[in-house]
Amino acid sequence: MSSSSSIPVRAALPEPIRFERFPASEHVVLVHGGAGAVPEASRAAHAAGCLRAAHAGAEVLRAGGRALDAVCAAVIVLEDDPLFNAGTGACLDESGALSLDAAVMDGQRLDAGAVACLPAFANPVRIALRVLEAGGPILLSGEGARVYAVAQGFAPAGDAMVTSAARPNLADAKTRGATLGWAGGTVGAVARDARGHVAAATSTGGKTNKKIGRVGDTPILGAGTYADDALGAASATGDGEAFMRLLLSKSAVDALAAGRADAAREVIAHLGARLGALGGILLVSPRGEASFARNTETMSYGVVGPGFEVCGT
Ligand code: GLY
Repeated sequence: MSSSSSIPVRAALPEPIRFERFPASEHVVLVHGGAGAVPEASRAAHAAGCLRAAHAGAEVLRAGGRALDAVCAAVIVLEDDPLFNAGTGACLDESGALSLDAAVMDGQRLDAGAVACLPAFANPVRIALRVLEAGGPILLSGEGARVYAVAQGFAPAGDAMVTSAARPNLADAKTRGATLGWAGGTVGAVARDARGHVAAATSTGGKTNKKIGRVGDTPILGAGTYADDALGAASATGDGEAFMRLLLSKSAVDALAAGRADAAREVIAHLGARLGALGGILLVSPRGEASFARNTETMSYGVVGPGFEVCGT
């Protein structure tokens, strides 16, 4: 399997912010395939992958399903696509292992489930959803997450999830003595269903050559993932350490709830101005207005609602 090449997350200064907002929709799903700098030649494939994922989520919503199931359906498509840095195609840590983070959050009751430093399992988001459904601890990590996944019937996946690009990317990062982002980046989705509930899901391999045990923003509620029916839902991608410092996803939905429709642009501007960091964020408001912003060169996305679909980078 092939995948796109790695791009240093901190290689560039923040780009001018791109901000998009879509009209309110009874039900809608918006997905991202990661903030970064996807090479020109790969952009159409990244956008198409995001649109496929958004359609998988939209199918759930069209059938009257929950926003929670829609975001998981969308993220599973992206985890299975080797172009993206999540599930199959995820980057490797300094030991050459997959160490996967994922989270899901349901805005109706603020239920959440997350895994961190999970070894190779095809769909970390399915395991995060199982953690949510179990209703106990919210975040399981490392060996505990592995044991839980196996006990719940998930099959470890092994080396089949490592793409042909992952090992050379790790070797390159080691040569440069760097911890690198990934052109395809983290994946995520937000959705609003016809009953007015919102949800968010995010999944990632993190950064190439990251320290063993490093956890990014993705499974940290309020940093990389957040959902509350009263506020909206958010899924973030980019420099995880910066997103954690700023609790960017929670800040974004708080801004939405305060009536600031350009909340996505506002928090990404703050990310760049306060920490000089790079990334992007997806939001959906309680009324079903989807929006996104990024200060990277690209962030592939797809959005699908009744009668409309859009994708791009
Ligand atoms: N945003 C993904 C990470 O930093 O791990």
